[in-house]
Amino acid sequence: MARRKIVAGNWKMNMTPSEAVKLCADLKELVKSDEVDVVYCVPAIDIVPVVEAVKGTNVEVGAENMYFEEKGAYTGEISASMLKDAGVKYVIIGHSERRDYFKEDDVLLNRKVKKAIEAGLTPILCCGETLEQREMGVTMDWIRLQIKSDLDGVTADQVKSMVIAYEPIWAIGTGKTATTEQAEEVCRGIRQCIAEVYDDATAEAVRIQYGGSVNAGNAAELFAQPDIDGGLVGGASLKAEFGKIVNYNK
Ligand code: 13P
Repeated sequence: MARRKIVAGNWKMNMTPSEAVKLCADLKELVKSDEVDVVYCVPAIDIVPVVEAVKGTNVEVGAENMYFEEKGAYTGEISASMLKDAGVKYVIIGHSERRDYFKEDDVLLNRKVKKAIEAGLTPILCCGETLEQREMGVTMDWIRLQIKSDLDGVTADQVKSMVIAYEPIWAIGTGKTATTEQAEEVCRGIRQCIAEVYDDATAEAVRIQYGGSVNAGNAAELFAQPDIDGGLVGGASLKAEFGKIVNYNK
């Protein structure tokens, strides 16, 4: 069965609650699609108003982070069940900005992935290499390590409904997109890794996005690749251009 494409915006630390509601209204008609799953991953404080703002549309809401504990004395953190109760469907886990600036490691991320699934959220698990790693020729070794550690203890059936986002760190926010060949090569490698750890059916089912300077000009070619099932979009998800990315094939 063909995998359904998924195009998710990662708003990062942008949009106050009132700006968020306005952006939802501005994008509403532009992101309509019967063929593609559309997700806005928004700052925690925007979740409640954005869930309300996209009611009755084709847009689902995602969070950008969560904590793995159920509840308790973790000042400043947000749990998976809080997200679920607020109407969130997806949660980005292990974005390179969190790995780098907030020192999130694979042991922590593995706990987050498992907790998200347990709560009924769909993780969008991010992986990706630095420019130095690419130049050293260890891209696939690094990404396989991230995937295998972050998915430790996750079952094949759980992986089937997950999303993995390949985001080369050197392509994020730099305007420097990976070439279509580079993006497809790694996404294919991730699928092979899933086939080895699990089985072919799981590898065929899991959706793998590309992220890193996706824009209206490059989305169609990237998303046409056999192993690229959509995109995780930063900067371009905050403007009308996002509608063009969602409707890349029109
Ligand atoms: P840009 O699209 O701004 O490069 O960001 C990519 C990204 O990090 C999405 O998670």
